[in-house]
Amino acid sequence: MIVCVCHRVSDRDIEREVRHGCASFDELQDELRVATACGACTDCARETFDTARACRPAAHAAHPVHVPHPVPAAAPRGRVFALVPVGVTPLAA
Ligand code: FES
Repeated sequence: MIVCVCHRVSDRDIEREVRHGCASFDELQDELRVATACGACTDCARETFDTARACRPAAHAAHPVHVPHPVPAAAPRGRVFALVPVGVTPLAA
């Protein structure tokens, strides 16, 4: 669903920003420019943002990515990547 016609912002765009850590409506506006032109979408954009934030599990918010530490040294063929949440220093392997 398109939330902001002026800037072509959908509910999925807003949900994606929340999943990526957007913590405030102001930050959302900085990223997507939603509700920064005519303002007709402000209520819908805030409601969509609030709903997306409410649906985001608290534990998931604190640690968005599960990191198996340490990454096994004797990994099978191919590359091994560890997903590390933003702001967390990974342990040395
Ligand atoms: S519809 Fe979003 S600013 Fe106009």
